[in-house]
Amino acid sequence: MQITSFKQYEEDFKKSVENPEQFWGEVAQNFQWRKPWFKVLSWNFEAPEIKWFEGAKLNITENCLDRHLEKSGDQPAIIWEPNNPEEESVTLTYKMLHERVCRFANVLKRNGAKKGDRICIYMPMVPELAIAVLACARIGAVHSVIFGGFSAKSIADRINDSQCKVVITADGAYRGSKQIPLKDVIDDALIGCPTVEKCIVLTHVRTPVSMLKGRDVWWEDEVKHVNDICEAEEMDAEDMLFILYTSGSTGKPKGVVHTCGGYMVYAGYTFANVFNYQPGEVYFCTADIGWITGHSYIVYGPLSQGATSVLFEGIPTYPTPSRFWDVVEKHKVNTLYTAPTAIRSLMSYGDEPLEGKDLSSIRVLGSVGEPINEEAWHWFDEKIGKGKAPIVDTWWQTETGGIMISPIATVTPTKPSFATLPLPGIQPILVDENGQEIVGNGVMGNLCIKFPWPGMLRTTYGDHERCKQTYFSTYPNLYFTGDGCLRDEDGYYRITGRVDDVLNVSGHRIGTAEVENAINMHAGVVESAVVGYPHDVKGQGIYAFVINPEMHGEAELTKKDILQTVTRVIGAIAKPDKILFVSGLPKTRSGKIMRRILRKVAEGDTSNLGDTSTLLDPAVVDEIIEAAKALK
Ligand code: WT7
Repeated sequence: MQITSFKQYEEDFKKSVENPEQFWGEVAQNFQWRKPWFKVLSWNFEAPEIKWFEGAKLNITENCLDRHLEKSGDQPAIIWEPNNPEEESVTLTYKMLHERVCRFANVLKRNGAKKGDRICIYMPMVPELAIAVLACARIGAVHSVIFGGFSAKSIADRINDSQCKVVITADGAYRGSKQIPLKDVIDDALIGCPTVEKCIVLTHVRTPVSMLKGRDVWWEDEVKHVNDICEAEEMDAEDMLFILYTSGSTGKPKGVVHTCGGYMVYAGYTFANVFNYQPGEVYFCTADIGWITGHSYIVYGPLSQGATSVLFEGIPTYPTPSRFWDVVEKHKVNTLYTAPTAIRSLMSYGDEPLEGKDLSSIRVLGSVGEPINEEAWHWFDEKIGKGKAPIVDTWWQTETGGIMISPIATVTPTKPSFATLPLPGIQPILVDENGQEIVGNGVMGNLCIKFPWPGMLRTTYGDHERCKQTYFSTYPNLYFTGDGCLRDEDGYYRITGRVDDVLNVSGHRIGTAEVENAINMHAGVVESAVVGYPHDVKGQGIYAFVINPEMHGEAELTKKDILQTVTRVIGAIAKPDKILFVSGLPKTRSGKIMRRILRKVAEGDTSNLGDTSTLLDPAVVDEIIEAAKALK
């Protein structure tokens, strides 16, 4: 299954286009199935209806755990590196991880969870998070992991959208020098969540928490009541494996649904290939399991391939900006997969944090989440890879389940800031506004995918129409990614960023409408408009234009109040970097906000605002420009 030469990549790619069913059928043979499929693929992008490995039966945890026990049961599956470097790291071998997953799966059963039930997981980056995820999969329950930075309201919305029955959380989380009271947040959320019957609480920071009789139970107590034998539930290839909520251009996050068979094959295949993983190597992905990167490339991808995956609780700059390099040195990391925002942040500290650090174990570097600028690419290449480690700039999305366009380490010649070429099985096309295919090289357009791949989303939870509208209706018979893209003279792809109203802030996807809704919830705010602007470290920053609210004290205080409201409604990750109070917004006569103008203002480039003739009140633009100049 592993591609070892560029010639082989070309051959595999060709085969995957000419005979996709044969290609993926062969790839899927590298996994363990209880029962084979009778049909590799049936599809229709109109409905949409996509089925991979129809009729096949499996359990993904048998692929991630059981099948490695005999040969490599004593090999590390997870190496946990805590937030505080003074604390001991923890290594779980495949045998240990298997045992703990089975035990916790029995805890879930004991608390009433069964196949098909939805389970919300809101946890710190500790081994128990991976254990909880895998335990859900073991019993066929559908996990919905929510990133630890979301607010009680966001959690409640997500829990209610998929009617979760059980919640798994911890008392609290460490994040650098901060402590986050996870259980408190969950308690606030659960006030409005009637479907939740049980809440399992892991002790981590041992901060005082409220434990409600009949609903809340301690993880540590529960595991004492069960044994560690748990036969895996037999799942259909198209049974739901998990839901992961993500932002779009409308206000409400969608629950992206992935299924067992196709997702497993795609996460495993892409992991083995893109990172050119070699047995025994240590692989470190710095993402949080609360995002798709953590699902596919900390948990399912690496474990399905018997890899050793580092799970890091901390942040790159705590206690010092040397932390990543210390982790690399300590665990002799061979592959480091991180985000451009982290690279840019670390870059800003100069060479000092790198002095005396032994990074010689590094063989492959990876980047994900947002476009990587050339400066960051070169710094990563020279300072971290010492010019010898290929950088895989991996483009993909929550919806794609796995990496789509990326170099294959040691195989594909790289080019700074290019995701390079589609992986075998992926058929990208560029289209213009009218959906007309843009052929040839040296062109730009909207990025679509014209043929299914096993890891693609199947629906958005509870609202199939929304899935259809969002991804399959903009251009008929194509999956629309929402990204703009350049294909250069060599046929290499460079993703240029979103073409819809979705921001990418430090690699986190945030819909402008969501932030606007949150700001508008603040008492006294009449209306707001949110746009992105280039930010040195975050990639994009959030710029909010807010129609003069009723001030409560000074303007600066009111701004802080608004930030507090956004933190309450969505979470700290959605806080605007800049707020500008204005008396009106630039609207067309039909009442549409001209965001194009606001983007220009936010970028600080108002020399050419383009056609403003359709504006209802052009004077408002001059006022905004003047006010923006005064804003720091
Ligand atoms: C959006 C998806 C799946 C990875 C984590 C983010 C942007 C992702 C790249 C890249 C340029 C990238 C796109 C995409 N993006 N990777 N290598 N180069 N842009 O997942 O939250 O679903 O966001 O992230 O705009 O649409 P996500």
